[in-house]
Amino acid sequence: MSMQSVASPAFSFTPPKRNSLTHIPGDEGWPIIGKTLHVLADPKRFIEKNAARYGHVYRTHMFGETSISLLGPEANELVLFDQAKLFSSTHGWGSILGRLFPRGLMLLDFDEHRLHRRALSVAFKSGPMKSYLADLDQGIAARVAQWKAKRGEMLLYPAMKQLTLDLAATSFLGADIGREVDDITRAFVDMVAAAVAPIRKPLPGTQMGRGVAGRKRIVAYFSEQIPIRRAKGQGKGQGEDLFSQLCQATHEDGALLSTQDIIDHMSFLMMAAHDTLTSSLTSFIGELAAHPEWQRKLRDEVSALGLAADAPTSFDDLEKLPLTEMAFKEALRIKPPVPSMPRRAVRDFTFKGFAIPAGTLVGINPLFTHHMAEHWPAPDAFDPMRFTKDAERDRHRYAWVPFGGGAHMCLGLHFAYMQAKTFARHFLQNLDVSLPADYTPDWQMWPIPKPKDGLRVIVRPV
Ligand code: HEM
Repeated sequence: MSMQSVASPAFSFTPPKRNSLTHIPGDEGWPIIGKTLHVLADPKRFIEKNAARYGHVYRTHMFGETSISLLGPEANELVLFDQAKLFSSTHGWGSILGRLFPRGLMLLDFDEHRLHRRALSVAFKSGPMKSYLADLDQGIAARVAQWKAKRGEMLLYPAMKQLTLDLAATSFLGADIGREVDDITRAFVDMVAAAVAPIRKPLPGTQMGRGVAGRKRIVAYFSEQIPIRRAKGQGKGQGEDLFSQLCQATHEDGALLSTQDIIDHMSFLMMAAHDTLTSSLTSFIGELAAHPEWQRKLRDEVSALGLAADAPTSFDDLEKLPLTEMAFKEALRIKPPVPSMPRRAVRDFTFKGFAIPAGTLVGINPLFTHHMAEHWPAPDAFDPMRFTKDAERDRHRYAWVPFGGGAHMCLGLHFAYMQAKTFARHFLQNLDVSLPADYTPDWQMWPIPKPKDGLRVIVRPV
């Protein structure tokens, strides 16, 4: 079965006429720029104000288009679970990510998406994951040792960004990438920065201009490397990184992925992993710095593993860190790295009594849902006990959606837990973290949560 024959028929859409949505309460703000500036200024407050004024289905106008926000767990379930195949991710994410990350997994729809997802899944099975763990473990241990030697005040966010980039270079591209690593990393950083750049045209000197040039460099690198990796084959010491896995991955009919597919999937995977991990690991450690009692509990849990300082971390060790996992989940609740998710309606549908026509851009909002007081009492408080098995059972399944859900549920979810727990193991075994006196971190929450000043923390050897 060739990929072309099963590709979903191209869904072409025309955004609905403005007056076809006027029955939905809302406020589209100024002509052309609409509500864009309000959203950028304080996205959480903007949504909460709209929800209080108009309810959980409302109309707004952002980034040049009218869209409908659908808030709360039921909306998340409708859009993410998407039993009726009503919502296109291609035409939701396309205008944001399409230029730099075309045909990434999240930008494919329905049958075609399912086939590609199955082909990529081999890279996330337990064999390859064990090999990524070994790389992450070594890289994290070495970096924590450097932080320990330096000790004192540091900016957590840039340090975490550099670490995540360096770890991705080895676990995604392989330890022997050599001299090209800096060049590739720079090209990749430019692409990621451009994905959320306000100026969308690739003009010289703009972020988008650098992003498009970065994509060219990355495409050239992958194109040159694919035959080399394929020739090496798999096996110990050869090709255990994610890129080499994809070079060997096949579709259901046994055909290898095409060069273009590998390029598109690799670029997207690196982007999907990068800012999300940097954001979540920073907010996780930031919460532990602000809550020493939880930091102590997690350090006790890590100590109970009984690992010598230089012993490697195994899968089994990670299984024995339930409190650490709960604390990481709570950090993801408070600051979800993907605070909103766009889709486009393929057909007319009705939600909470509102008729919404085909072609409408809709958005769900984990950031809002994760702070709804009816699902999360005292929503701003850091309380990992919200994630005991009992508490999770009693809650709406779509009240906590940092990794999305349904067909597009994050493919790297276990990779993310693995990196977070491995990081916690080395960090807490070696360092105590606190916030400077009289300092309150200030975060920007959109497009990806990030501390405005880099997040000042003090680290001391334990
Ligand atoms: C804490 C870290 C992460 C968070 C919060 C996160 C969040 C998400 C979310 C919300 C989606 C779904 C978006 C949508 O449906 O519109 C997604 C998709 C995806 N993520 Fe992650 N992600 C994280 C880390 C990673 C990592 C480490 C990788 C790769 C190693 C990865 C790979 C992917 C891929 C490939 C998709 C697309 C899945 C599909 O469309 O089938 N993510 N992620």
